[in-house]
Amino acid sequence: MRVAIVGVTGMVGQVMCKILEERKFPITTFIPVASERSVGKQVEFNGQQHTVVSIEDAIQAKPDIALFSAGGSTSKEAAPKFAAVGTIVIDNSSAFRMDKNVPLIVPEVNIQTLKPSNKIIANPNCSTIQLVVALAPLHQAYQIDRLVISTYQSMTGTGVKAVKQYQAEQEGKQPEQKAYPHPIFENCLPHCDVFFENGYTREELKLVNETRKIMNNQDLRITATAVRVPVLGGHSESINVSFHNDFVIEDVRKILENAKGLIVLDNPSENAYPMPQLAHHRDEVFVGRLRRDLSAANTLNMWVVADNLRKGAATNAVQIAEYLLEKGWIGTSSTEMGMDQTDQVLIEEEITTDPLIEQLHIIYGEIENVPTHYVDIPLLEGLANNAVYLLSKILQEKEDLTREQSKNINNVLVDILDTLSREMERATSTLEEHTRLGWFVKARKQILDDIGTVF
Ligand SMILES: NC(=O)c1ccc[n+]([C@@H]2O[C@H](COP(=O)([O-])OP(=O)(O)OC[C@H]3O[C@@H](n4cnc5c(N)ncnc54)[C@H](OP(=O)(O)O)[C@@H]3O)[C@@H](O)[C@H]2O)c1
Repeated sequence: MRVAIVGVTGMVGQVMCKILEERKFPITTFIPVASERSVGKQVEFNGQQHTVVSIEDAIQAKPDIALFSAGGSTSKEAAPKFAAVGTIVIDNSSAFRMDKNVPLIVPEVNIQTLKPSNKIIANPNCSTIQLVVALAPLHQAYQIDRLVISTYQSMTGTGVKAVKQYQAEQEGKQPEQKAYPHPIFENCLPHCDVFFENGYTREELKLVNETRKIMNNQDLRITATAVRVPVLGGHSESINVSFHNDFVIEDVRKILENAKGLIVLDNPSENAYPMPQLAHHRDEVFVGRLRRDLSAANTLNMWVVADNLRKGAATNAVQIAEYLLEKGWIGTSSTEMGMDQTDQVLIEEEITTDPLIEQLHIIYGEIENVPTHYVDIPLLEGLANNAVYLLSKILQEKEDLTREQSKNINNVLVDILDTLSREMERATSTLEEHTRLGWFVKARKQILDDIGTVF
């Protein structure tokens, strides 16, 4: 598996490397990427030194997957370029989170909404991830009506610059660069990200909008105050949640204890409750201080803490990658498929009239050229992935299609699927290949369903 980390020298990028190592993600080629400032520097991964490369070089390497944490503008510009060469992008920035064509995923909550055709997948904001992990099981049981959230967010959420500002202030020095307009050492700032005209900050509105999208409920009433605190270990959140249905506190505790990715730490008589120091370096979300709000019906107070760099960013992204791997959706890049780079360029240059349709024809031609005595399953999978990707592009642009184009695409896709299906069946002799066939049959059904909705 060829894996690129875009933003490898940053706070999230570094934790991403650590988590890939810890979880033994199967990497054959590691591609570290950062800004021009860092190109040529060395970063360590799996005990070896690797040279940081530019975004352009990484795109040329056509990774199977690229984990992005290099800020919104970098993602906006570079993620579609990676997707165009067949790479699946998991993006930590806010660039695509609210794009209706991009899934916003927290594995414990909505991983089932991912499709094999998703080439860009968004990781939610750190404070949203821990919030929804704690709330989703309760929403399922009691139906959330309203949320009042106050956050106490670690400086590490602002990146390397913020931690340097804190360290300089702690040592009584003038910071070289400031991430915040006020000192953060021995201070709290009710100010995370920029202010909007309505008086809310971007971080507060992310909590509102991203939570609604992940929970698939635009009617959720949510209000938030986000505060930056001089803490390193993780983000904390005080959550006041009103439900449509009443609850018994013991049942709430049981539901949370049985939920995936959550640890209930709630024993006030022993001073046991979640804290950033406990959550630091952990992948779980911690929940405690469970108590009924005595001033309102069907309302619960809770305190939720998680390591924002791990579950709030890197772990969540790696969990998504693991899911793609498990499903067999991480495609084989054309270079690994044995396709010469020059061939690829020539093929691309030939596409003059209607690029999407032309590309579908090319894929079909490639499938026909697979020698019948030697069926290369990864090659077929790669071609199927390309077809899925093209279909997703066609779906996005369907309003512009003429009747003739629709018919043409439909015919080519059906041909591709039938040929692939036949070849895959012929090639399934071992257990591993059977697993791959299972993936393919599902992907084929998905494509045919999607075709049905378009034509
Ligand atoms: N920190 C968190 O808790 C957290 C949580 C969730 C999501 N995120 C998101 O993750 C992203 C990164 O956050 P961070 O805290 O890791 O920031 P950071 O510590 O400031 O790191 C930024 C990284 O992006 C790279 N970069 C900047 N401009 C680039 C460009 N034009 N091309 C390629 N690489 C570029 C930097 O490379 P150089 O070293 O070469 O400058 C560095 O590796 C942000 O979008 C942030 O919103 C952060």
